[in-house]
Amino acid sequence: MTSHDPQDAQNFTFAAQDEVAAYSRLQELMKTSPMPPREFHANLGLFLNRPSLARILFMHDLYSMTLHTHGVIMEFGVRWGQNMALFTTMRHIYEPYNMSRKVVGFDTFEGFPSVAPQDGDFDGLKVGGLAVTPNYEDVLADILSAQEKLAPRSHLRKFELVKGDVTETLPVYLERHPETIISLAYFDLDLYEPTKRCLELIRPYLAKNSIVGFDELVLAENPGETLALREAWGTQGYRICRNTISPQQSYVVFE
Ligand SMILES: C[S@@+](CC[C@H](N)C(=O)[O-])C[C@H]1O[C@@H](n2cnc3c(N)ncnc32)[C@H](O)[C@@H]1O
Repeated sequence: MTSHDPQDAQNFTFAAQDEVAAYSRLQELMKTSPMPPREFHANLGLFLNRPSLARILFMHDLYSMTLHTHGVIMEFGVRWGQNMALFTTMRHIYEPYNMSRKVVGFDTFEGFPSVAPQDGDFDGLKVGGLAVTPNYEDVLADILSAQEKLAPRSHLRKFELVKGDVTETLPVYLERHPETIISLAYFDLDLYEPTKRCLELIRPYLAKNSIVGFDELVLAENPGETLALREAWGTQGYRICRNTISPQQSYVVFE
């Protein structure tokens, strides 16, 4: 059965009914798997599918492109935090001694704080939409801390979760961290106002070759992100790139 809960990401899919049923079946099989927990890590691929693996590969491409650029990684719109965990693990693989490659995530962890007329009228876009469970940021911090224990210098925390409306928390963060240079920023706020404000705020912190990724450019259901980019930076001074792995995401290499 397909959920009609607007919080359920499956509702936002372009998938046909058969595909949705197959996704549901995989979820069921994951929940009821007889596999002993100690075997889960080595067998996660059992439950990945084309969009979920493609997103991971896309994030890997972004990370690979940023390896030779100095600076931190920021994610705007963290939700359950998969990208925070992926970037952490990619650091462990490629540059375990790069202590300056902090991964910083911004989210209310309570869903959308407000929605503007520019965001259109798609169902899921409403105040509180995409909320996670109460105090989820503590669970995510535990996960990221455990991940950090798997790499050198684990006594140094190299992630930060910044809770609150990012239009308020980002200026405070940047004020507190004048050392900031951003090598990779990933935008997945879904909304016009915070995306525009963050694009304006981070611009002085980008350097040549910094990468800015976008989750929803050109997506009719989420017009806010595209409008925000056009109004904050214009869309003509740089290439808006994509790769063939994941159809929805895109990125700009800052020049
Ligand atoms: C699509 S989800 C992010 C998904 C995540 N990047 C992933 O790949 O799983 C969008 C997130 O943006 C957050 N968000 C939207 N507007 C925000 C704002 N003004 N301040 C902080 N977080 C915001 C929401 O709480 C939500 O968790």
